[in-house]
Amino acid sequence: MPSILILGATSDIAQAIAASFAQRKFDVVLAGRNVSELDRIKNDLQIRYQIAVSRVHFEAEKMATHIEFVNTLPQLPQITACVFGYLGDQAKAEQNVEEALQIITVNYVGAVSILSVIANKYEHQKSGTIIGISSVAGERGRQSNYFYGSAKAGFTVFLDGLRNRLFKSNVHVMTVKPGFVNTKMTAGLPLPKLLTAQPNQVGEAIYKAYLKKTNTLHVLWIWKWIMLTIASIPENIFKKMKL
Ligand SMILES: NC(=O)c1ccc[n+]([C@@H]2O[C@H](COP(=O)([O-])OP(=O)(O)OC[C@H]3O[C@@H](n4cnc5c(N)ncnc54)[C@H](OP(=O)(O)O)[C@@H]3O)[C@@H](O)[C@H]2O)c1
Repeated sequence: MPSILILGATSDIAQAIAASFAQRKFDVVLAGRNVSELDRIKNDLQIRYQIAVSRVHFEAEKMATHIEFVNTLPQLPQITACVFGYLGDQAKAEQNVEEALQIITVNYVGAVSILSVIANKYEHQKSGTIIGISSVAGERGRQSNYFYGSAKAGFTVFLDGLRNRLFKSNVHVMTVKPGFVNTKMTAGLPLPKLLTAQPNQVGEAIYKAYLKKTNTLHVLWIWKWIMLTIASIPENIFKKMKL
């Protein structure tokens, strides 16, 4: 049976990805740090889709555990989706370096650490797919979220390089830039309805893009054009804007 490893499996987007692949009879390995929530998701997937689901403990910030994490999996699934992330608090991060470092560590360093281990395994076996959830926030630094944005920018470039390196080894790397999504991460934020996707839309879009071997997926196409517009504003004007 084909299977998918989902890192950060308690996230709302991760649960939608799991459901989309489970519907197509992929077995699922759920990795995360909240064991009781992972058990709830596991039971739900098993009952709904009659597939094999397992759960493993995973901490993005504990980089020293990542090699052992991969080596102790009974079998490395053919697909890995790196979904965990931490939006953090921009205002707090400006004053408190611990908050700043947590944002950078979860979204960039932790993701680079675990995916580097998995990439080497896939390269060695000459097959596999890596799906990384980055963000349009990484397209241009803005005063309202540049800690998170810079970590996602780094992650996007890391995925670009990994895709370039692994192409010759028959390993596909897909970057997902979802735009706004209605999840726990964005709860309470005033998100414009037309620009906001639902997690199940993201899950389905990722499954279809996986089949097509898409390089970069914008879940709502309008985000591609919004970010092109934002990127084209001259810096002398941009620096005076409140974004
Ligand atoms: N929502 C959006 O608008 C949006 C837009 C663009 C990109 N994204 C990206 O999409 C991905 C999923 O986000 P979401 O919206 O589904 O958010 P979410 O529901 O808040 O999920 C965040 C996930 O990250 C996990 N996580 C955080 N720190 C971790 C750590 N140190 N170790 C392991 N897991 C950790 C959380 O685990 P716990 O349950 O244990 O806390 C949770 O599973 C993230 O990478 C996010 O940056 C989201």
